[in-house]
Amino acid sequence: MPLSEYPLRLAVIIGSVRKDRFGPTVATWLMTRVEGRDGLETDVIDLADLQLPADLGGGGDTAGFLKRIDRADAFIVVTPEYNHGYPGGLKTAIDTGRDEWKAKPVAFVSYGGTAGGLRSVEQLRPVFAELQAVTVRSAVSLHWADSLFDERGRMLDPERPESAVDTMLRQLEWWGHVLRAGRGRGDCPG
Ligand SMILES: Cc1cc2nc3c(=O)[nH]c(=O)nc-3n(C[C@H](O)[C@H](O)[C@H](O)COP(=O)(O)O)c2cc1C
Repeated sequence: MPLSEYPLRLAVIIGSVRKDRFGPTVATWLMTRVEGRDGLETDVIDLADLQLPADLGGGGDTAGFLKRIDRADAFIVVTPEYNHGYPGGLKTAIDTGRDEWKAKPVAFVSYGGTAGGLRSVEQLRPVFAELQAVTVRSAVSLHWADSLFDERGRMLDPERPESAVDTMLRQLEWWGHVLRAGRGRGDCPG
C-alpha cells in the first residue's frame, strides 16, 4: 500500500560540473529507473546549469535553486569521486541551503574509478547529518563507471545496478513519505 496518495517530489542533483564529465551518462541511466516508478514527480538539478556563488552570498541562481530544494521531498545526489572526495561545486550547492534540506531523505548514486565514488558518499553523509537530512543506507556505486556503458550511454550489464537502484528507491520513498508526514505535523527542532 502506498504511504501517501500524493506523489513524492524527488530532486536528482548532478554533482559534477566539469567539461566532458561523465555525470550526465550516469544520471540519464538513473532516470530510466526513476521514471518507470509510480508516485514520483522528478526535478533534475544539474549543477553545471547553475551559477551558485562560492562565497554563499546569494545572487546568481541561488534563489531559484533554493526554491527547487525547498519544494523537494527527497533527493538523489549523483556524485563522482575526485581525489578521495566529492566535487567542490557540490559542497557549495549543499552549503547554499540550510532548512531547505531539513528532515528530508538523501540517497546517493556514486561513480568513479576503483572506489566507485564510495569515499565521496561516506564524506557526504556527515555533511547531510549536520543539515538534519537523513541519508538512506543503500547507495548505488559504479566502479570504473565508463567501462559499464556503451558509447550510446546504455548500461552493458544492467541487472545488478538496476536492482541496487530499486532497493535504494524503495528506502528513499519510505523515508520520503514518512518525513513529509512528520514535517506536516510540525518543525523538526533545531
Ligand atoms: C581530478 C580527478 C580526480 C579523481 N580522483 C579519483 C579518485 O580519487 N578515486 C576514483 O575512484 N576516481 C577518481 N577519479 C576518476 C573519476 O571519478 C571519474 O573520472 C569520473 O568519471 C569523474 O566524474 P565526471 O566525469 O562526472 O567529472 C578522478 C577524476 C578526476 C578528474
